[in-house]
Amino acid sequence: MAYLLGLDVSTTGAKALLIDEQGNVLTSATTEYPLYAPRPLWSEQMPSDWWQGVCASIRATLARAGLTGDDISGVGLTGQMHGLVLLDRGGQVLRPAILWNDQRTGPQCAEITDRVGGLGRLLELTGNAVLPGFTAPKVLWVRENEPEVYERAAQVLLPKDYVRYHLTGEYATEVSDASGTSLLDVAGRRWSEAMLKLLDIPADWLPRCTESPEVSGRVSAAAAQATGLKPGTPVVGGGGDQAAQAVGSGVVQAGVISVTSGTSGVVFAHSEKFAAEAQGRVHAFCHAVPGKWHVMGVMLSAGGSFRWFRDTLGDPERSTALLTGDDPYDLLTREAARAPAGSDGLFFLPYLTGERTPYPDPQARGAFVGLTVRHGKSHLVRAVLEGVSFGLRDSLELIKGLGIPIEQVRASGGGARSPLWRQIQADVFGTELVLVNVTEGAAYGAALLAGVGAGVFANVQEAVAQTVRVTDRTLPIPENVQRYQRLYPLYRSLYPALQPTFQALAEAQ
Ligand code: XUL
Repeated sequence: MAYLLGLDVSTTGAKALLIDEQGNVLTSATTEYPLYAPRPLWSEQMPSDWWQGVCASIRATLARAGLTGDDISGVGLTGQMHGLVLLDRGGQVLRPAILWNDQRTGPQCAEITDRVGGLGRLLELTGNAVLPGFTAPKVLWVRENEPEVYERAAQVLLPKDYVRYHLTGEYATEVSDASGTSLLDVAGRRWSEAMLKLLDIPADWLPRCTESPEVSGRVSAAAAQATGLKPGTPVVGGGGDQAAQAVGSGVVQAGVISVTSGTSGVVFAHSEKFAAEAQGRVHAFCHAVPGKWHVMGVMLSAGGSFRWFRDTLGDPERSTALLTGDDPYDLLTREAARAPAGSDGLFFLPYLTGERTPYPDPQARGAFVGLTVRHGKSHLVRAVLEGVSFGLRDSLELIKGLGIPIEQVRASGGGARSPLWRQIQADVFGTELVLVNVTEGAAYGAALLAGVGAGVFANVQEAVAQTVRVTDRTLPIPENVQRYQRLYPLYRSLYPALQPTFQALAEAQ
């Protein structure tokens, strides 16, 4: 029996997940590490923590499964995207890694857009607008603010690729993660010489860039000692966390979309062709499926909006839950079910922490609009679930606008747990919403990619066909679809109407 190992270097911890060749999960282990915010807007981690975490998690999973390194046929890497790891000539880390959620590089993003010649040219070269979380502006920030560090720099790596360097001794990345650097020609699936020249970043600082299932190196003798793996075990490219998560939930063919709602909400669509949105409002990245792409919208407060409601207005439900052992979210969705579809004309805007897609606006705010004395708590809760679903539909509409078909939505994350919320999403999207058997996320996708590289599966589609199954279907209710269809344009009109107020509120504080 072949066993495969998926490693996820996430923002909270290093997860190791073991599966067999039928896709059954044997066991997993996660080692947490700290996140540092030494100044406002900064978010950093120590790359050495990732490596130590990965070593501990691999040893723990092997021990729990009663396996040794000899049993592992391949290793796949995934992790938080966009982070900057800077190494010197000898491979030593020069400063803490600057992460995806670090917001210090606003001025560098403006500078890059300007140097390149505007958003249109940036989209031509990289397929995407440049955001503060992306990697290239971080390189410029170090050059401008820590010249003594920059002078010693010789290598730029993404978080999971730093772990690869320790595992294999190789400097390598793959196209899905590289897409979030602003340095990849996403359409051509190779580093953009033009971007590197325009930004004055030496081309030899970047690692070799492969397709995701390709073998990028093999476990070294030193790494074998540290992890318990066998020297020579193949390590595949892997994928950025979103692309690997999509592989793990079977989003590897046209028409299939995933909506993952944790605190934030990610709408991810497989795309057969490269397609950039005219204003860069959705990310256009390479998929972990060779020769394919994906388009992605990110909503900042999806499950986060519901959590806010629970924490601010859900005291009675939380108290009841303590007595009955129910989940307060279940009690709140039961309440929401008492209000009709459309919440009798009450809207909720879910921009509680600003927004990324479709409005890249940190000043955007949440709102209830349309309150009357007839509205009660059931309407308020339902409006929150509906407002988040409308917000996710905004990303779906941008994706549709690119000519990408939407036939089935695969839901995952906390927001997919509630049958009512799944029904609301199916009705707001006007599409079938399904659940799949796999809930292990990105690490599972990384393990499948390892299986492709190691020859256990012929390709990514086959890996998915053999392991990922639909377990639940929610069909849209035609009457509700029609009602939401009528309400959606009203929802769409709210942000443009309120944007000047949001701006004024930000300035007034
Ligand atoms: C993707 C993104 C996040 C990070 C952290 O664009 O910003 O998914 O990779 O999870």
